[in-house]
Amino acid sequence: MQYKDTDSVRLSDDERSVVIIDQTLLPNKTVYLTLSELDELCEAIYRLRVRGAPAIGIFAGYALYVRGLRISDETDDKLSFFKRLEAEAAELTASRPTAVNLSWAVKRVLSVARGLPPAEAVSAMRAEAKAIHEEDIDTCLKISQFGLTLIKDGDTVLTHCNAGALATSRYGTGLGALLLGAERGMKLHAYVDETRPLLQGARLTAYELDRAGVDVTLICDNMAGLVMKQGRINACFVGCDRVAANGDTANKIGTSSAAVNAKYYGVPFYVFCPISTIDPDCASGDDIVIEERPSDEITSLFFKENTAPKGIKTYNPAFDVTDHSLITAFITEKGIIRPPFNMKKLKG
Ligand code: MRU
Repeated sequence: MQYKDTDSVRLSDDERSVVIIDQTLLPNKTVYLTLSELDELCEAIYRLRVRGAPAIGIFAGYALYVRGLRISDETDDKLSFFKRLEAEAAELTASRPTAVNLSWAVKRVLSVARGLPPAEAVSAMRAEAKAIHEEDIDTCLKISQFGLTLIKDGDTVLTHCNAGALATSRYGTGLGALLLGAERGMKLHAYVDETRPLLQGARLTAYELDRAGVDVTLICDNMAGLVMKQGRINACFVGCDRVAANGDTANKIGTSSAAVNAKYYGVPFYVFCPISTIDPDCASGDDIVIEERPSDEITSLFFKENTAPKGIKTYNPAFDVTDHSLITAFITEKGIIRPPFNMKKLKG
């Protein structure tokens, strides 16, 4: 996938389906899925076929439009159209709880439709879903440009999870500075946490950065502290799934440990944060719901054989919350935000 001219999420040519790259199959296979049924749209979110907070938001916007179009084929009665649309919007929103972009995009697309006759509602939803996508392309480029001011030629960045083109649009957020830097001929190096248990770092970030010409070294998550202690890392760059008003940040499980290590070893810890990922309704990280996922992701999913006794109890939280005191700055499309953080003000 070329990050500059390919979208990991888009509408199909007939605009009746959403097309995604199935991220569960990367890097070994590049398979595009064309989805329009509600259950397959929800499944794609839950199974992480589409993943990364901004990409989930873009997908949800298009998904709701596609469902609205389908419902309008079946009824032109305003009351029954909105009854079904609202029910399907609620199902989409319930697919995953932590990334705020999902509910944000669904609410945004739904809000432009309310009160209109079905045919007009559908065309308003289409325009709004496209606007969400276009805004994200612009946001990612701006965030990447601001991010690039934080590093210089020869620097090494540690990343966790995947905040590249697959998780967003085009440049991505956390990886965008590295992609832009590589385009400008800078020699940049990335240590990539593999990101257990679903390996977004190994499968997606290593793949994206390597193809873009960044020098990549893959490490297991539990090696991040050592490489920081050894002085190999100039900065940590991560994305985010929901940022509370006080700056507490939910991101992929393991982010918080990386931030604690970074603070201890004096490495700046930067969170790349589109304004769409700020949740003004969460005062602090305590208000953020953390998704829990099934055992097999830990015990068997990526292994030839089970790696734990059958039936062993597991705990598999998909995200953690990094305390705002561990964050050096947020990189947003409005600029670089340093403490004290008032993220709610940025949203307004
Ligand atoms: O479970 P995932 O793969 O959807 O989690 C994704 C992350 O945690 C990303 O770091 C985050 O969404 C930022 S993407 C720009």
